[in-house]
Amino acid sequence: MSKRIINPFTPQKPIDNPEYFFGRNNEVDSIIDVLYQTAHENPEHAIITGDRGIGKSSLLVQTKRIAEGDTTLIEKFDIDTGGIDNFNFKSIWIDTVENQSAEEVAGYILSNLKRSITILSKIDFSLDLFGVQIAKKEEEAKAKPINEVVGNFVQEMKKVSKKVMEEKLDGIIIFIDEIDRMDMTKDLPTFFKLVTESFSRNHINNIIFFFAGISGAVQKMKEIHPSISRTFKDIVLHKLNQSEIELILINGFDKVGFTYSDDVLNRIGYMSAGFPEPVHLLGGTIIKYSDNNNLNMNSLTKGIEDIIQNKKNNELKNLLEEAGSGKYQQILKAMASNENINVPLGYIDNYLGIKQSEYSMNINKLCERNIIKKYSRGIYSFVDPLLKEYIKIFGVLE
Ligand SMILES: Nc1ncnc2c1ncn2[C@@H]1O[C@H](COP(=O)(O)OP(=O)(O)OP(=O)(O)O)[C@@H](O)[C@H]1O
Ligand SMILES: [Mg+2]
Repeated sequence: MSKRIINPFTPQKPIDNPEYFFGRNNEVDSIIDVLYQTAHENPEHAIITGDRGIGKSSLLVQTKRIAEGDTTLIEKFDIDTGGIDNFNFKSIWIDTVENQSAEEVAGYILSNLKRSITILSKIDFSLDLFGVQIAKKEEEAKAKPINEVVGNFVQEMKKVSKKVMEEKLDGIIIFIDEIDRMDMTKDLPTFFKLVTESFSRNHINNIIFFFAGISGAVQKMKEIHPSISRTFKDIVLHKLNQSEIELILINGFDKVGFTYSDDVLNRIGYMSAGFPEPVHLLGGTIIKYSDNNNLNMNSLTKGIEDIIQNKKNNELKNLLEEAGSGKYQQILKAMASNENINVPLGYIDNYLGIKQSEYSMNINKLCERNIIKKYSRGIYSFVDPLLKEYIKIFGVLE
């Protein structure tokens, strides 16, 4: 029986406690700048973008904490705040629902603000929610024109802005995570564009939007509305480097009081390919297999087997099925047999003994199906690095 310990790794949830948040120093610095500028009536709207699972929600959660006065991360990263001891923003967090209209989002933001300002100033703060609370499907047919929605919304936000000044707050931040889940081909991008423009014309300088979303989807939104890229400051999350990954691992291993070998840190870093989620998954599993409180390569092998056979077995099996049969499986088998994360097509040519032109269509389809991704011209890697380990243990579907 294994000893019961609190797991310091959190593969399924964003980082809330700043003590467990590592790396991203430059991004946090940019965020502090957004807050600093906004606190000085020079508002900036911002959007965190990056691949799935790269750490967007975690950074958004940290932003909210900092904005509301938590200084842990500022001190940990030793960031200059231009003399502000701690920020004093009010914020609301909007959960995205698919197929929301601009009117619904506007109503939702207003009703949230009404609630938090009422709590703040202990009086009923009245805002005209123009009858929009939560999604009302049957009313969709007679939806108001977008200009009218924006006009009404900005009118109400003026009241909010004034209240914020009276209360001597730094401002209001409207957080929206997973913005990519909203239907960006509809009126929402127009809504955000018109609202931000109208804020600036109306001197509403203490209210900003702070979004997070997957790069590709946000890119699409910007293509439809180029002005979004001008209005929103981009905070791009890249992969973590090896030393940032090690900080996450060492913090967790220290918390449970285990020692570890350097090759364990290296190997987990290598397998995670810069993504924090597998770091947490591997870290959190391997601590079950310590050797007298030491984590070595033997523990790692057992941890990987545990993940592949239990925790992610169905998920990885499904991925493999979704890849397609025949040539698709052969390509994946070839890629798994290569020691490197990024595999050149030349290697697959040799392994399969066929020419690239004969399987380039399959490669494109595997990318579309989100099984592999292009690293650079002619070089590909698995989207989920654990699929490679799965194939090494279980093989492909022949
Ligand atoms: N800076 C960080 N330090 C330590 N762990 C992190 C950090 N950022 C993210 N993580 C961890 O990585 C995983 C993914 O993080 P998060 O949910 O924030 O990513 P995401 O980009 O929002 O993912 P999705 O695209 O699925 O919404 C989580 O397990 C989280 O705990
Ligand atoms: Mg997220």
